[in-house]
Amino acid sequence: MIGGMGADRFNVPLYRPFEKLISITVRGKPMQVPENQILLRAFQYLCPETIPFGRYCWNEECQYCRVVIRKAGSDKLSQALSCKLMAEEGLEIMELAPELQWNLSQLFQENAPHPMPTDE
Ligand code: FES
Repeated sequence: MIGGMGADRFNVPLYRPFEKLISITVRGKPMQVPENQILLRAFQYLCPETIPFGRYCWNEECQYCRVVIRKAGSDKLSQALSCKLMAEEGLEIMELAPELQWNLSQLFQENAPHPMPTDE
């Protein structure tokens, strides 16, 4: 086992036990996250310094974790709550709610437009 044993102050593991990483894409960018996790927790694995400070209820109420997804082998887009949906191999996350865009922005920094005007 390579993960799942990190305990927080309540002695509850942050991640469900996992033995391998799975491949997903977030707005077209390939990522690897631990198997057996809800998607929001997988996002936390990718951005551990921002997701915990997002305004998420983690309980299917706030809607700040809404995503548009396509499952592997499907052409159908559907909406989901990342605090409810399990991350799975080949999952494509096509769109992110604004709170998630903000908290995951570091994943896309190299593609982001230059924040400062240039002299050109
Ligand atoms: S985190 Fe609130 S609905 Fe998912």
